[in-house]
Amino acid sequence: MLEQKVLEILKQNNENYVSGESLSEHLGVTRTSIWKHINSLKEAGYNIESVTRKGYRLIDSSDILNEFEVKNGLQTDLIGNKIVYIKEVDSTNLYARKIALEGAEDGTVVIADAQTAGRGRLGRNWSSMAGKGIWMSVVLRPQISPEEVQIITLGASVAAIKAIYDVTGIRAGIKWPNDIICDGKKVCGILTEMNSEVEMVNFLILGIGINVNHTILDFPDEIKSIATSLAVYSGMNDKKNVKLFRRSDIIKKLLYELEQIYNKIKKGAVKDIIDEWKLYSATLGKQVRVIYKNDTYTGTALDIRDDGRLVVKCDDGCTRDVFSGEVSV
Ligand code: BTN
Repeated sequence: MLEQKVLEILKQNNENYVSGESLSEHLGVTRTSIWKHINSLKEAGYNIESVTRKGYRLIDSSDILNEFEVKNGLQTDLIGNKIVYIKEVDSTNLYARKIALEGAEDGTVVIADAQTAGRGRLGRNWSSMAGKGIWMSVVLRPQISPEEVQIITLGASVAAIKAIYDVTGIRAGIKWPNDIICDGKKVCGILTEMNSEVEMVNFLILGIGINVNHTILDFPDEIKSIATSLAVYSGMNDKKNVKLFRRSDIIKKLLYELEQIYNKIKKGAVKDIIDEWKLYSATLGKQVRVIYKNDTYTGTALDIRDDGRLVVKCDDGCTRDVFSGEVSV
């Protein structure tokens, strides 16, 4: 905890020097103890300069991800009250499920720097290399029925679009139901898993993966043509000036936006969420191909219903509601 206090003071001083003496006086510990904490902050990746007779200064905290960086400045009342940060885990969804079964509270967030067995929709893998993306799961305990879960997933994609725009200025789109795409390539995916009775959800695990600072070479060959990252996309017209983003800033904004959505769902304002989803949709009005189990058909995506089903006017003239499956534009 003392380490975090040292970090807070260095941050407040905006790259100016803070003497070891003032730190030790302020925190009521010896200068040797301050020196030890500074060293462990450096080991954690913080770029701290130490100059004799001047003291210490934090040059910048670049893209460091840990519990402190997410909590510091987080503007939520519920989501993120408890944050579990893990350097490497098989899947944050699996970890979140385990702690939810043990009683983790509504709004608990699990974040990993790397996943060794990231899970995607429809039983696929999700590539989640260390230090590049946001691999995060939120435990939610809404009082809803299993049929209403889709609206949370749609709402989460709206939250992700808003957070990405707010922090990076990138305007992404949503491919039904909840893929976030930039220029047709996937930058973010959402996997919601639930534990429920027939009529009532016990808990949901809302898993969100965002490709943030990957270069194109970081993606496995099999997804290079269909995946992108915020960094790659931001540098599309300016290859020399590819931006790197601070994952903790995106997470903080995302948790804030998720809380707004969660509050709307609690108030029953489902229509608002659907309307916002439509604003960002990259699917409605487009010619689509739908693959569901062994069934494939094409048509035009007309609308989404209040429960999240996609309405497709098929090329054979009939209208079908799509509840699950793969829709390509
Ligand atoms: C998709 O297939 O589009 C969904 C991908 C979801 C990936 C995220 S990363 C964090 C969380 N943990 C997982 O194992 N999967 C989700």
